[in-house]
Amino acid sequence: MTPDLEKTIVETAYARWAPIYDAVCGPVMVKGRRAAAAAARSVGGKILEVGVGTGLSFDDYDNTTEITGIDMSAPMLEKARARMATGRYPFVRQVLQMDAHRMTFADATFDCVVAQFVITLVENPEQVLSECHRVVKPGGRIILVNHLYSEVGVAAAVERWAAQRTRALGLRPEFPFARLQAWAQSNENAILVERRKVAPFGIYTLVCFERAASPLAA
Ligand SMILES: C[S@@+](CC[C@H](N)C(=O)[O-])C[C@H]1O[C@@H](n2cnc3c(N)ncnc32)[C@H](O)[C@@H]1O
Repeated sequence: MTPDLEKTIVETAYARWAPIYDAVCGPVMVKGRRAAAAAARSVGGKILEVGVGTGLSFDDYDNTTEITGIDMSAPMLEKARARMATGRYPFVRQVLQMDAHRMTFADATFDCVVAQFVITLVENPEQVLSECHRVVKPGGRIILVNHLYSEVGVAAAVERWAAQRTRALGLRPEFPFARLQAWAQSNENAILVERRKVAPFGIYTLVCFERAASPLAA
């Protein structure tokens, strides 16, 4: 497996992506993004979007929810703020420049934390998952959607080949599900409640963790 991406690589990459992100990544990732937002809407309430990017997901929410977004990329957030300025998204309360490894929110602030196409890119995925777990309320959910490593066959070989070549673009095609599962197993109050493939062609995986409503016995 390739090493986790360094923060500076990701920052540089997304400063470059920002002007073209919606045109290039909007259509390709729309179904994964929508599936994650639909799962978040079914939880409802206060939703945190980690790595909110340009705010492409705003169209997938409505007034039944209250959205806060964070992202470490100022150029991506500039696009998200331009979307908010249209007035079409009154349920998006704020977007903040913040590193997902060190969030400034109090413990148990949100009903649901969503990270769409983010967890494989961060410098320390386990630390980000633990931060998501900290800021979600007991009984709340963490919903991730990503392309995850195929692990066997031709697809896995292609992903391993692509991994080094796409690094500078802030992309990582060979991140294994086992790593997410191991995080949940090492965290006594995190429960893996769902893992399913989503369209197109099942290339994305939606993973959902619940923070136990009351501490689980060890
Ligand atoms: C592939 S984009 C996904 C954007 C959006 N979620 C979407 O579905 O279109 C990944 C985003 O994660 C952000 N990101 C990466 N590492 C981060 C971190 N440590 N803290 C906050 N945001 C981060 C990047 O700046 C980028 O905007």
